Amino acid sequence: MTIKEAHIDAVDIFDPMDPQLLKAPFAAYRRLRDQDPVAYLAPLDVWAVSRYADVRSVLAAPDAFSAARAFGRHAILTDSRRPGLQLNLRFSGDSGGVVSSTDGEDHARLRRMVARLMSKPRLDAVEAGVRAHVARILDALRDRSAFDVVDDLAKPVATKAIGDIIGLGDDTARSLAAWADLTARALDPGDELALAAAAPGMMLSNLTGARTVTSALDARVAGLPEGTGSGLVEAWRAADSQTAREETILSVLQLFQAGYETIVSALAHIVAGSVADRPRWAALAANPATLAGLIDEGTRLASPVRATFRTAVGRQQIGGTAVPDGARIMILIGSANRDERVFADPDRMRPERATPHVAFGAGPHRCLGRFLAQMESRHVLGELAAATRSVSALGGERVAANILKAGYDHLPVAVEWHR
Ligand code: HEM
Repeated sequence: MTIKEAHIDAVDIFDPMDPQLLKAPFAAYRRLRDQDPVAYLAPLDVWAVSRYADVRSVLAAPDAFSAARAFGRHAILTDSRRPGLQLNLRFSGDSGGVVSSTDGEDHARLRRMVARLMSKPRLDAVEAGVRAHVARILDALRDRSAFDVVDDLAKPVATKAIGDIIGLGDDTARSLAAWADLTARALDPGDELALAAAAPGMMLSNLTGARTVTSALDARVAGLPEGTGSGLVEAWRAADSQTAREETILSVLQLFQAGYETIVSALAHIVAGSVADRPRWAALAANPATLAGLIDEGTRLASPVRATFRTAVGRQQIGGTAVPDGARIMILIGSANRDERVFADPDRMRPERATPHVAFGAGPHRCLGRFLAQMESRHVLGELAAATRSVSALGGERVAANILKAGYDHLPVAVEWHR
């Protein structure tokens, strides 16, 4: 295989520090895929990988591309064009990490702990609560001819579902949702919060999040007989070192973030995409069996987690391009999911597609919450389609995007309810 030298001006095609571009990156992704699929973004010292096959190969090779190094203690992204700007990719504490910021044995151990929370019986138990919650929310909205999909529907559903899965109770879940809303902005290069003013506010917010988790776990441990709490509650009970305590707190915070923001954004994207396509929405109301395909395609097109990172361990090759030891790799999931090499007519919703998308990642770090996400989407979309004669975009939606994620801050819709 020939090893080609990468271009050095790829940031002119795709600049992950440009807030406007992040809101609509698909044309830039396409140029990257065609012209520079393993592109060196010099000001950030980052390599952007944009083709489906390359994305899958990097995600499938944890020994060559480390998550621990990408999201560990020194994971700060800088930009030589904007001295002083620091984006924090660190998902680890001083002594402990979380499932997405570890490799090898540590990762396997933490993944087992989190996976136990997502077992089929636990999901089934949570599903009844989620279904009832969606029905209550829609009932309460019935008096209104318009509502905001994000604030009035997606956020309350996501808060309830992830709170129930972790086993923390509704009040704690609501506090953590407020914390997650704030910290999500820390990676937004266009947001003042991410700049100089961010640091104290963000640290305070993280401290509040950690305190909320500590007191909720203490209360659960005191209130539940040994062995009956969720995996994280029992891990807190058993924690006998600073590292174990830190791991549990960070795991709760990370899981909350992973299971809240992503699903809020996925739900908003899928509703936006579905209501824009009136015949499809009408078909959905008439035939709920079409729901699963619509959710899967909606998730591919949305790719709420637009990117993730890994760090090369030793000199590596990606699709014939050499990357040096320590290279920081930005894996463009949102681009891979629209790669015309594998998805014909990639910007169109086609629920019958056979190629698996990578919106939930691939390889050993593949999303642990995908079944919960699909379950929430099923209830929200299914109930909304069944309860309404029509749903249409009102305009005034606000897209939020940062280097890792994309979603909506607001998505106002007009509704006609069945009476
Ligand atoms: C549509 C919604 C969701 C999307 C698009 C999504 C996407 C992803 C992606 C792309 C990854 C892999 C990241 C990487 O390889 O670095 C991931 C990992 C993960 N997700 Fe999700 N996710 C969603 C919902 C959820 C939910 C609801 C939860 C929890 C309840 C969750 C928990 C996790 C966890 C714990 C990991 C880390 C797994 C590991 O590192 O082994 N996700 N997710």
